[in-house]
Amino acid sequence: EALLADTITVNRTEHPIPEDPRTSLLDFLRSGLGLTGTKKGCDHGQCGACTVIVNGIRINSCLTLAAMHDGDHVTTIEGLGTPDDPSALQQAFLEHDGFQCGYCTPGQICSATAMLQEIANDWPSDASADLEGRIEATGEEIRERMSGNLCRCGAYANIVAAIRDVAE
Ligand code: FES
Repeated sequence: EALLADTITVNRTEHPIPEDPRTSLLDFLRSGLGLTGTKKGCDHGQCGACTVIVNGIRINSCLTLAAMHDGDHVTTIEGLGTPDDPSALQQAFLEHDGFQCGYCTPGQICSATAMLQEIANDWPSDASADLEGRIEATGEEIRERMSGNLCRCGAYANIVAAIRDVAE
């Protein structure tokens, strides 16, 4: 029985794993698939510009090899929404001017999308914390949990405002 080729699913479409085993997931997305929404900043795990969501978890795509993701499901900024049908976070970034040059924005939005799910998982719906406390904590938590995504323009206040808008 012939083995099926290794595949990686990106934004709900299956693709063969690239032949060169040294190809980073970031380079595969950008050069292999033409999904240039995912950005290369440092290429060393320092800036978060390359953040994508793999099986629901945010990762720096520059730090991992495409070949390590056989059978995985990857979501990039292109998979979250479109200009005509933006995700809630994409819309909130627009409304709060959550960017200046925009280079870090795809990574910020992918990171925040997965991060909000992390918060939801950490705060089960039967938690007894009062709503005010939770919303205050969310502002602090957002800063802490988004600290892996750098913005050279310093648009952090608006980025956090956009995320809080969706978190609440
Ligand atoms: Fe991956 Fe900077 S490009 S963390």
